Amino acid sequence: MQEKAKKEEGNPITRRYFLEAMGGGAIGIVAAGSVILTAQFLSPNVLREPPSKFKAGVVEDFPVGSVTLNKKQKVFIVRAQEGYLVAVSAVCTHLGCITNWKSEEGIIACPCHGSKFDGEGRLIEGPAPRSLPKFAMTTDDRGQLIVDKGVVVGEEVILKV
Ligand code: FES
Repeated sequence: MQEKAKKEEGNPITRRYFLEAMGGGAIGIVAAGSVILTAQFLSPNVLREPPSKFKAGVVEDFPVGSVTLNKKQKVFIVRAQEGYLVAVSAVCTHLGCITNWKSEEGIIACPCHGSKFDGEGRLIEGPAPRSLPKFAMTTDDRGQLIVDKGVVVGEEVILKV
């Protein structure tokens, strides 16, 4: 017994010190975990999405008879032969592939399963179940075209310029 006590005297880390340190560490880890979980619980559970409105450019950027893809927004800005403008979604209504404008054929085509749409996104050939949606478009006081992807408009809606 005396030999054991002597050993402990020579060793700066005793059993008691070790167990106290382990207990304190465990309590600290549990406290930190509960603080993190409480902070996560109290923070708002918000899905951050890009704004639905974007500036597409000025009217002069779009020559008459053109179909221009805004890759970032996945929207075609179509300037018809008659001069009016429409904003058409580039996302295929079948399974969501990004469509392409085929100027030589005058159609918007889906590379995934072959759906075809006319220059203003009206369905020509499936398997897509419906036409590409048209989005609301206006001009601001500086002549910028503002497209709102949050507002789908009817096929007949155009922006006269
Ligand atoms: S995703 Fe376009 S035709 Fe299938």
